[in-house]
Amino acid sequence: MVKIACIGAGYVGGPTMAMIALKCPHIEVVVLDINKARIDAWNSPELPIYEPGLQEVVAEARGRNLFFSTDVEKHCSEADIIFVSVNTPTKTRGVGAGFAADLAYWESAARTIAAVSTTNKIVVEKSTVPVKTAHAIQKVLERNCVHPGVRFDILSNPEFLAEGTAIDDLTAPDRVLIGGRDDLESGRAAIAALKEVYANWVPEERILTTNLWSSELSKLVANAFLAQRISSINSISALCEETGANVKEVANAIGMDTRIGAKFLNASVGFGGSCFQKDILNLVYICQSEGLKEVADYWNQVVLMNDYQKNRFVKRMISSMFNTISGKKLAILGFAFKKDTGDTRETPAIDVCQGLMDDGAKCCIYDPQVKEQQIFRDMATAKFEWDHPTVKSGVNPYETQLSTVSDAYAACDGAHAVSVLTEWDEFKTLDWQKVYDSMVKPAFVFDGRNILDHDKLRSIGYIVYGLGKPLDPFVTGN
Ligand code: NAD
Ligand code: UDX
Repeated sequence: MVKIACIGAGYVGGPTMAMIALKCPHIEVVVLDINKARIDAWNSPELPIYEPGLQEVVAEARGRNLFFSTDVEKHCSEADIIFVSVNTPTKTRGVGAGFAADLAYWESAARTIAAVSTTNKIVVEKSTVPVKTAHAIQKVLERNCVHPGVRFDILSNPEFLAEGTAIDDLTAPDRVLIGGRDDLESGRAAIAALKEVYANWVPEERILTTNLWSSELSKLVANAFLAQRISSINSISALCEETGANVKEVANAIGMDTRIGAKFLNASVGFGGSCFQKDILNLVYICQSEGLKEVADYWNQVVLMNDYQKNRFVKRMISSMFNTISGKKLAILGFAFKKDTGDTRETPAIDVCQGLMDDGAKCCIYDPQVKEQQIFRDMATAKFEWDHPTVKSGVNPYETQLSTVSDAYAACDGAHAVSVLTEWDEFKTLDWQKVYDSMVKPAFVFDGRNILDHDKLRSIGYIVYGLGKPLDPFVTGN
């Protein structure tokens, strides 16, 4: 029986390996992590991440051919194919800080693989990494392997799933990308072995093979292009507000041109998530390192536009509410970076809430999937340095200015304004008359995702701000 191990049981390692195990009952799949709490959660009824459909997939495969373990060494030594799906965050210190990817977790995983390997291994880069990483990893593996003659074939197999739709994305991917050394016989065999795994459910024409560097770079470029679309439409949202155009109408009109396409044109309070900003900054760093200043500046602007959009939203709220939000209760609906996930990494809600609270507001946050402790940790990380004791303590960093509640009505009760920061479906069907009745007047709605029925809200009596929409007379400033 072929054995697959995966180092890293996170948002990517967990779902991707669960899908391989589901579709390939003849393959044993073991997902590994140094974080015991995370592995315990994968082995429990309450999985460590919220993802629609994931529970069912895990329930079917776990204990059959899908296992979760902290025994990294044992399972890596036994595996034929080892995926590495560890985190590759932006470096916070040292050379390239703020831009370059931190490959410390990757290198540590590679050292473990090298130390325990007594047979040939196919090592698969599942994490998103800078172009040329495979070259460095090859050296780490070869120089640290204690058993002479063991061969490591490195493949790049970046993951394109989006959170919230991970199971659908994995079930029917647009493409599976495999980069490898097709100039070597062992490289061709490794590509064929990984192709064979995916071919159990992915049509062959969707499995794309390239050289290693094209594959590594394509992942960064895919995320940069996706994020660029959002920054582009967000930039136009600002212009729409100045001119009376409606960004939804503009997006619809341009998206019907099949050369542009309709997807990823929703203006928003800003993109979040663990990937877009980190991967663009990484791309910017690579371009700078290669001396391509203009190319670096071009892509960096996508991130700067995202920051502008978040700031613009905060300023719009403050100026519309008579230039003072000090002491006012504001209901924040949604904290996750998008709907159908509990993930808050780089969520625009962090910057928006920080901006509002720094101006004296009281933010009362409701999110269906994000726990209070997570919100406190995120806000503490934004307010203090990462190693400040408050960040670890789990204490509320804004004291009475910050609170969380477990339903949307409680968040809105007594509030001066409601701000929608995540597009959860349940916000669309709230009893908005009931909400209005419980709020301080004039009651404002700032829809950072354009998901609510603005005309209906206006007929109830709200003053409404929809991003990129014609402005109500009360909504001022920029
Ligand atoms: P994550 O932080 O959720 O998971 C990474 C896991 O790796 C953690 O649980 C950590 O404890 C573990 N880990 C780190 N070093 C380890 C080691 N040496 N040995 C064992 N375990 C170790 O990260 P993620 O969101 O799953 O992302 C993983 C990679 O996939 C990143 O490179 C990311 O850019 C990429 N990616 C993420 C997404 C996404 O939607 N989250 C999508 C595509 C690609
Ligand atoms: C992204 C990529 O889509 C995925 O292919 C890659 O593997 C990982 O990074 P993810 O970050 O999980 O996935 O979610 P995505 O759906 O891309 O959304 C990212 C952010 O953009 C979210 O904050 C979302 O709300 C925002 N967004 C998305 C918009 O503001 N407008 C849009 O039209 C689409």
